[in-house]
Amino acid sequence: MFEIKTKIAVLVSGSGSNLQAIIENIENRSLNCEISYVIADRDCYAIERAKNYKIRTVVLERKIFGKRLSEEINLLLKNTDEEISYIILAGYLSILSKEFIQDWNKKIINIHPSLLPKYGGRGMYGLKVHKAVLENGEKKSGCTIHYVDSGIDTGKPIMKMEVPVLKNDTPETLQKRVLEKEHILLIEGIKKLISR
Ligand code: GAR
Repeated sequence: MFEIKTKIAVLVSGSGSNLQAIIENIENRSLNCEISYVIADRDCYAIERAKNYKIRTVVLERKIFGKRLSEEINLLLKNTDEEISYIILAGYLSILSKEFIQDWNKKIINIHPSLLPKYGGRGMYGLKVHKAVLENGEKKSGCTIHYVDSGIDTGKPIMKMEVPVLKNDTPETLQKRVLEKEHILLIEGIKKLISR
């Protein structure tokens, strides 16, 4: 029987391990969707990962497009013959414009490496998050999937997963353990999103 798959675009800026989790879950049929585009705001390893699976990739460099970046992404997403339903921010570090977010209201989700609202907001990304968690002597950390609104990491949470902070943790070891949970949480979040 012909199966209709939900089409998604994945926006990335980094190593793309979350993207890899999405790809693998699509490949093993745990996730019933299709990646129409992987879009990066800089040259990054995530793009290589997408190319390995022959997924359409585009790099729209933030340093070239500046304030027009969101507009350019939107043009790309709207002027394709694919009907893209959702946008997944998987380690994407540029801020999307208010117009873009309005246009895709409740259709963009982001994964963040902390238990939001703690350790979110401007400048809180990657290792900086885990460093701040350790400096504040937190006993637990984790990750959050949330809808994207016009604030930074302020959109409605969808799901969270906790990770204990261990006595000898460094930002790197904590990041690694949180990332493992991210790969699980992101898939659960996408499943929830596409089954709405
Ligand atoms: C992930 O930890 C993700 O939560 C974080 O960037 C990393 C990307 O890793 N995102 C943010 O900090 C957004 N504020 P990946 O490229 O290996 O998926």
